[in-house]
Amino acid sequence: MNGLHRPSRPQPRASRPWSFSGMDYPETKKKRNFAGKILLAAVLTVLCVYILKNSSSFTTPTAFSRHETGVTHVLVTGGAGFIGSHAALRLLKDSYRVTIVLGIHLYSVSLLQDNLSRGNFGAVKVLQEQFPEPGRLQFIYADLGDPKAVNKIFRENAFDAVMHFAAVAYVGESTLDLLGELQHSKCLLLYYHNITSNTLVVLEAMAAHGVKTLIYSSTCATYGEPLKMPITEDTPQIPINPYGKAKKMAEDIILDFSKNSDMAVMILRYFNVIGSDPEGWLGEAPRPELREHGRISGACFDAALGVIPGLKVKGTDYSTADGTCIRDYIDVTDLVDAHVKALAKAQPSKVGIYNVGTGKGRSVKEFVEACKKATGVEIKVDFLERRPGDYAEVYSDPSKINRELNWTAQYTNLQESLLTAWKWQKSHQNGYRKSTSLALTY
Ligand SMILES: NC(=O)c1ccc[n+]([C@@H]2O[C@H](COP(=O)([O-])OP(=O)(O)OC[C@H]3O[C@@H](n4cnc5c(N)ncnc54)[C@H](O)[C@@H]3O)[C@@H](O)[C@H]2O)c1
Repeated sequence: MNGLHRPSRPQPRASRPWSFSGMDYPETKKKRNFAGKILLAAVLTVLCVYILKNSSSFTTPTAFSRHETGVTHVLVTGGAGFIGSHAALRLLKDSYRVTIVLGIHLYSVSLLQDNLSRGNFGAVKVLQEQFPEPGRLQFIYADLGDPKAVNKIFRENAFDAVMHFAAVAYVGESTLDLLGELQHSKCLLLYYHNITSNTLVVLEAMAAHGVKTLIYSSTCATYGEPLKMPITEDTPQIPINPYGKAKKMAEDIILDFSKNSDMAVMILRYFNVIGSDPEGWLGEAPRPELREHGRISGACFDAALGVIPGLKVKGTDYSTADGTCIRDYIDVTDLVDAHVKALAKAQPSKVGIYNVGTGKGRSVKEFVEACKKATGVEIKVDFLERRPGDYAEVYSDPSKINRELNWTAQYTNLQESLLTAWKWQKSHQNGYRKSTSLALTY
């Protein structure tokens, strides 16, 4: 037998391992194999957990994740904002199940260093305190510009309807030239992204997950400067600022989308929204830096609180009875009532478009007088030149919504609406925040 003879059948391994450079090689290999198997098992486990977690069947079923006969589950986007929080309150009072999406504005973080949500978590906290029972209210943080996050929300929850309030909603900001052209284009993009593209994201998620009812927040800003008053739903829509254009585009997308679907759609075009809930739980609390783009009521209250020195009324030579601009002010309580009525009357494969206003125009001078009376403060008013882009008169013809949804504005006393809002403002001078001081410069 020579030493080169190879055994014809496997030999039992030598009991003493080879030694190479001081290493027990086969033993190491064995250990490696073992470690490899453990690693593989771990990877597979993690993979399984990930897949299961992302499949709807894995999520622990909650009241929010399954449909329940007799309960309508509404997704309220922008439900921590001014109007959305009031709508959520009304829905909860009427025994709806509510999921609120709170914005985190990924897009604006990258563009405008706006790393805070425009919604108020404080508003959601108030709602939670009022409706603590399980299965009534949940909230989810998400940027509606993130389709993955939005899809996850729809996958994990069984919505019956969506009220889509979320938007950036300041006409002034949408036209703003903050620091020259670059910032200006960023502001424009912010409006088109947050309003137009995000509506598309929501629509696609609704279609993918079989959610059949949409109530959409639109605005009279989509009409632009109509030649004829009052504004009906047939008044041509020729918006004149990025906010109005973005909303009009979102409306167009919804209308086209609905042509080939059995979705029930209601588009509500609001006029100027004022007031707050009569119980005094909620109010309008824009972040300080947004207040200067805000609405006339906010400015009146700031002036009454002494946060700003007074009011600047721009334009006294319009062709109106007292020379100041005329607008249609709708109380938020009436507005959310219109949403609930729209939800109740929404029908598959049909689109309803409605103006939501009082049908009555009030001049800025009238508004300021009402505000003085409501706050009890002799607000200082400076009358200045016209502001470019303002139009003399805007008020609605609400007869279609009166007729078809049986809705009529009830809170039409300007002074009373302002008084309700003023009570909340006075007791929440930092909005929903507890101690931050207001630093306004406008
Ligand atoms: N307030 C008015 O006078 C008025 C008039 C006409 C129409 N509207 C419309 O009503 C709706 C609500 O307005 P509001 O006055 O309550 O505004 P708001 O700023 O108080 O609330 C808007 C909410 O949308 C959320 N949001 C914005 N972008 C988001 C995103 N990418 N992802 C998730 N959430 C996001 C914000 O965080 C906020 O909670 C808007 O669609 C607005 O255009 C308002």
